[in-house]
Amino acid sequence: MFEEPYLGTLVTRVRNALAYATHKFFQENGFVWISSPIITASDCEGAGEQFCVTTLCAAGTGKKRNFKKEDQEPHSMLKQIVRCGLHISASLLVAIQEPISKGLDQPAGSHLSGSTGPAPITSFKDLVLVVGPAVAQSVSTDVAEKGGNILISNAGESDCPLNSIPTTEEGNVDWSQDFFGKPAFLTVSGQLNAETYASAFSDVVYTFGPTFRAENSNTSRHLAEFWMIEPELAFADLNDDMACATAYLQYVAVVEKDFIQLTYSDAVELLLKSKKKFEFPVKWGLDLQSEHERYITEIAFGGRPVIIRDYPKEIKAFYMRQNDDGKTVAAMDLLVPRVGELIGGSQREERLDYLESRLDELKLNKDSYWWYLDLRRFGSVPHAGFGLGFERLVQFATGIENIRDAIPFPRSPGSADF
Ligand code: 4AD
Ligand code: MG
Repeated sequence: MFEEPYLGTLVTRVRNALAYATHKFFQENGFVWISSPIITASDCEGAGEQFCVTTLCAAGTGKKRNFKKEDQEPHSMLKQIVRCGLHISASLLVAIQEPISKGLDQPAGSHLSGSTGPAPITSFKDLVLVVGPAVAQSVSTDVAEKGGNILISNAGESDCPLNSIPTTEEGNVDWSQDFFGKPAFLTVSGQLNAETYASAFSDVVYTFGPTFRAENSNTSRHLAEFWMIEPELAFADLNDDMACATAYLQYVAVVEKDFIQLTYSDAVELLLKSKKKFEFPVKWGLDLQSEHERYITEIAFGGRPVIIRDYPKEIKAFYMRQNDDGKTVAAMDLLVPRVGELIGGSQREERLDYLESRLDELKLNKDSYWWYLDLRRFGSVPHAGFGLGFERLVQFATGIENIRDAIPFPRSPGSADF
């Protein structure tokens, strides 16, 4: 009588059950659900993997902005802005130099390719590249490394004439005229916001919502848009954090096996002692790659979930609490078979002076974190939390191989259909 259900609908039902179980677990344990903002001006992970949110490209509105007369000249902004079509090859850096140096405008939709021409320029400071969403992914790292900016046009390229973007006297994009009066982004994590509410309540809170990462990782474990569950616990240290992650996973994913805990240093030793040949190097101070993580949980510990803690501070985010050794931070990653990293968490740096010097070391702009610093400046408590990638949990629970099958409408580099 019943038709065989499609895999997609089955996975969606499991996803639904996991969402229900997630809220049930946290609600039954006294956590308050917080909706963290989707649009934000802070970069939680400090990794620069954010999508820019802007209305400066008045695409498709037919709206003309007011410009100074000289801005109407087609070449006046050329030194700062290069507009690209949909097809940009890997030799972008070489190719776009030419139109800049010749003072020629680059027609929309043109194919910028070819590796001939002058040697690549090395600094793109003050360069803004206006591209469609499809190409933003493929060029963002290159351009960002050279100090340039990517402006993502949210409609067809031909709908966003160059001279519709307001600029400052110096010829930079004038963000003060943008919707929020400053650059804004899609959130990569609700953690910083969750910290404010955990502190305000002096209690436990959690977020459960969409997050976005413009990392160009076309893998079976990465999405550009994914959902994250982020509990934040006031008056908690890393041990409490790991205990919460363990209890949650045992509750929602029916994991009966004991969890292993080991330090990053021990994990590196274990990998070095293994006879296995890895593609990526293993050395204290280097991040663990997916192949290392899977070896640890699948082979070394026979399929048991593993929590690795106390990572070198250089490979972790600015907000993690420094350990007394001065070299590591109170971070933890929870690894499971097949998926690898399912959870990333930490105790937060609650000491103002430590946090400020870490921001300085990493050359992050302290002004944009003023409210986060004030959370320490005017009194703070030890607190900790973690983030769990919901689609990776669906992968873990169902065994499906590709993360794109774990969400109804997947978004990944070069693909935002339906
Ligand atoms: O380890 P991450 O980057 O940690 C954070 O964002 C912290 N602010 C969380 C916190 O402490 N509140 O990300 C957390 C988890 C990862 O372990 C992974 O499961 C998932 O989010 N994740 C992704 N899932 C799918 N696609 C991506 N591109 C992902 N990036 C991270
Ligand atoms: Mg992580």
